[in-house]
Amino acid sequence: MSDMSAKVVVVTGAASGIGRACAKAFALAGARVAMLDRDAETLAASAKPIEGALGLVTDVAQQDSIEAAVRATREAFGGIDVLVNSAGVESTYTIERMPLQDWDRVLDVNLRGVMLCTQAVVPAMEGRGGGAIVNIASVAGKRISFHGGAAYTASKAGVLGFTRHAAFELGIKRIRVNAICPGPTLTPMITRNATEAEIARTEAIIPLGRWVMPEDVAQAALFLASDAAAMCTGTSIDVDGGVLVSNGSSYQDYFARRK
Ligand SMILES: NC(=O)c1ccc[n+]([C@@H]2O[C@H](COP(=O)([O-])OP(=O)(O)OC[C@H]3O[C@@H](n4cnc5c(N)ncnc54)[C@H](O)[C@@H]3O)[C@@H](O)[C@H]2O)c1
Repeated sequence: MSDMSAKVVVVTGAASGIGRACAKAFALAGARVAMLDRDAETLAASAKPIEGALGLVTDVAQQDSIEAAVRATREAFGGIDVLVNSAGVESTYTIERMPLQDWDRVLDVNLRGVMLCTQAVVPAMEGRGGGAIVNIASVAGKRISFHGGAAYTASKAGVLGFTRHAAFELGIKRIRVNAICPGPTLTPMITRNATEAEIARTEAIIPLGRWVMPEDVAQAALFLASDAAAMCTGTSIDVDGGVLVSNGSSYQDYFARRK
């Protein structure tokens, strides 16, 4: 397991799902973790069982809110080594019906939030001689999002582009920037909208036979943030149970056509 002791890790969207699993995994590996989320109540409940965690109510779409959280983290822990950008939202509109406010809401959190958080942590990472940023993108950034609509797909493709560019620009400061593309991951983002039948249908087209769990994504984040990935930057890891290679086909349909 990666040793993260002496590391200070900031996780956005840390109250729930993938962000929460990342906060837990980094804390278990010895890190001091600042958990940022805009949902105060869920954040308090999620931070409580994580030893030494600092819960900071933050809106990643707001620059002053992020700057306050970064300041609070530096004051409490003395610096920042790792940022995991996990805060994310989706849209339910089609393109034809999409109110501009909804497009902006999704892009503001999923893409602008990643840029703002990156911008805010760079001076702290520079002060430590380097750092690692892990952006939770999505397989939607490489294909399309079934649940999140066009705004979500565009935001995640944007995160992958931003990851590559930031990796180049920040390499000179020894800050590595990588992304993870989770496939269908069983978190509240899914369970609050999908029926049990939909959840079962999705599972049937995942080649590895089960939904991705938030902990699967957290392990990849731990790897990308650790010294084991010292020469990885600008890349992305698909933690998707094989959905990208399967093209959405079920094994039943596939083998029905094979001799
Ligand atoms: N669940 C999936 O299938 C899946 C697949 C691929 C990628 N992702 C991505 O993983 C990330 C985490 O999603 P999840 O599935 O854990 O969802 P989730 O809804 O369980 O967690 C998202 C968290 O982000 C927080 N958040 C939303 N807007 C925020 C804002 N403006 N400022 C601060 N916090 C904010 C929410 O309060 C919530 O706690 C997202 O970026 C999502 O797009 C999820």
